Amino acid sequence: MSGRACLVTRAGSGIAREAALLLATEGVRLAIADRNAKGAEDTAATIAAAGGTAEAFALDVADAAAVGAVVAAAERRVGPIDYLVNIAGIYQWIAIEDISDADWRRMFAVHVDGTFHTCRAVLPGMMARRFGAIVNTTSLHALRGQARAAHYAAAKGAILSFTKSLAREKAAYGIRANAIAPGPIDTPLWRGTMTDDEIARTKTSRATVIPLGRLGEVSEVAPWIVFLLSPAASYMTGQAVTIDGGELMA
Ligand SMILES: NC(=O)c1ccc[n+]([C@@H]2O[C@H](COP(=O)([O-])OP(=O)(O)OC[C@H]3O[C@@H](n4cnc5c(N)ncnc54)[C@H](O)[C@@H]3O)[C@@H](O)[C@H]2O)c1
Repeated sequence: MSGRACLVTRAGSGIAREAALLLATEGVRLAIADRNAKGAEDTAATIAAAGGTAEAFALDVADAAAVGAVVAAAERRVGPIDYLVNIAGIYQWIAIEDISDADWRRMFAVHVDGTFHTCRAVLPGMMARRFGAIVNTTSLHALRGQARAAHYAAAKGAILSFTKSLAREKAAYGIRANAIAPGPIDTPLWRGTMTDDEIARTKTSRATVIPLGRLGEVSEVAPWIVFLLSPAASYMTGQAVTIDGGELMA
């Protein structure tokens, strides 16, 4: 993997930051694109301080034109994008009847449009080079449904179908596409606006339905992203790896 360039959407915190740090230790040159430029810059600086290569970009993945511009700039600064990790995400707890048109559109804009925009932008280069590996982020919610987060679950389901379709369509070009489907992972996104008491109570109640008896950590998810991009996964495409403490076991 050493010397190849990877675009990671969102890497200021959570699973994406951990994945970017791990990829850097493999010698991957990183372009980190985040709506929160400061978060991207912090992660890029951490990688650079450890001797790696990382460039930060401010990007809202829902903005197709901005995605195209960032991919072009990233390729100039870190090289042809051979790896893509789509991980930017938002969450919202809300009953279906209370979801506004704007809530629905934003959920799909960040997750589905964002994943489509970045894939579309990097594919021509990958196809020309006949090499590429993509990891998209779906969720346990897409596989089993989720009360009070139907728009999130639906958007994650669309990402899964899109990933499988991409995998079928571009396999002949040497491009692989897989997904990760995490269960509950303790990140800023999972904590959302919960108070410390609510976090503790929710962790305890979720743990009762998870065979391994606890939430996951980012360090238990990020290595799967590296694996799916790596030559070790050269015979895997169109898969969703579920990392959920055994909650689904489908
Ligand atoms: N944490 C979990 O329990 C969990 C479970 C299943 C799936 N996921 C998915 O994993 C991914 C990473 O989640 P996390 O928990 O590590 O997140 P996190 O705590 O790093 O937060 C996600 C970040 O994405 C960034 N973002 C949001 N909209 C964006 C946009 N339009 N453009 C660019 N960046 C944007 C935000 O800055 C946000 O903080 C998400 O796609 C999430 O849906 C998380």
